[in-house]
Amino acid sequence: MRALVTGGAGYVGSVCAEHLRRRGDDVVVFDDLSTGHADAVRGELVVGDILDEEHLTRVLRRGFDVVLHFAGVALVGESVRDPEKYLRINVAGTASVLRAMRATDVRCLVFSSSCAIYGNPAQVPVTEAHPAGPTSPYGASKWLAEGVIDEARAEGLRAAPLRYFNAAGAWPDAGLGERHREETHLIPLAIDAVLDRRPPIAIFGDTWPTPDGTCVRDYVHVRDLAHAHALAADRLVAGWPGAPLNLGTGRGSSVRQVLDAIGDAADRPVPWVGAPPRDGDPASVWAAAEAALVALGWRAERSLHDAVRDAFAFVTARE
Ligand code: UFG
Repeated sequence: MRALVTGGAGYVGSVCAEHLRRRGDDVVVFDDLSTGHADAVRGELVVGDILDEEHLTRVLRRGFDVVLHFAGVALVGESVRDPEKYLRINVAGTASVLRAMRATDVRCLVFSSSCAIYGNPAQVPVTEAHPAGPTSPYGASKWLAEGVIDEARAEGLRAAPLRYFNAAGAWPDAGLGERHREETHLIPLAIDAVLDRRPPIAIFGDTWPTPDGTCVRDYVHVRDLAHAHALAADRLVAGWPGAPLNLGTGRGSSVRQVLDAIGDAADRPVPWVGAPPRDGDPASVWAAAEAALVALGWRAERSLHDAVRDAFAFVTARE
């Protein structure tokens, strides 16, 4: 398979591109390196901006079976401060990818979407039929991008928007993992705290209506995400019309359980302090994971402990 991976220098994109490359696919990464890292790309890297439709079209003319579109911005807090950036890059950027695909007759798209489109869910586990209700411009931009993709189905596009829950873990043997310049995510922050590279981790609220009072999320290993993308690409290329699918483990873990897992990996407890709840955080979010099993034969094979162990190994190997 010939695959163009936009955003393939980023966290999930780089793991997915390497997964495809190692199974024998012909992979080209297209990334502007605004948040990604050139050294996370093992194969061919074209440095370019998804909003540069003409450049994208020129690259796609080389002949591709599928585009896996990861390029985008993904910071909830930043999206509140600068919603226009999220519309431009995540929505107009996706429209630009679709126009370039149409011009070059590439018909299959795997799209990096997010559980952020559901917002504060009315019930858990969250199924794909749960109404969209994003609570941030980031979530709204992913929902709008899914809409733009849906419109393109009328012109023959086959597409799978994959809605990730909390991407976690790393691929230490491949030297790939989470390296955000501005880090906001629990696991990398808590690993830095246990290594004394940052102050103690702040637990955002401990009186939530959850078993231990801290927020519950569905942490899905980034290598499991990569596997799901590869399967979705295969199915689309074989003629599957595609559908939105949740990618989660189907299990929730609390902030305290995450910190305990990191403490186990580090062999010392994670230093923490209590802090007020973060604006907009839902108490509990985890996925109904059956639809991806039915459509792709995929289920997450790795646990929270696997994700934390791999993330810890990746961070300590870079010292
Ligand atoms: N948390 C803390 N302290 C921190 C950081 C996070 O207690 O310093 C807690 C949060 O309150 C949350 C959990 O840890 O309960 C996970 O937080 P993350 O920031 O790692 O992840 P989120 O669940 O907030 O974000 C994820 C995705 C986003 C997506 C969002 C949708 O990473 O891309 O879900 O809700 F937008």
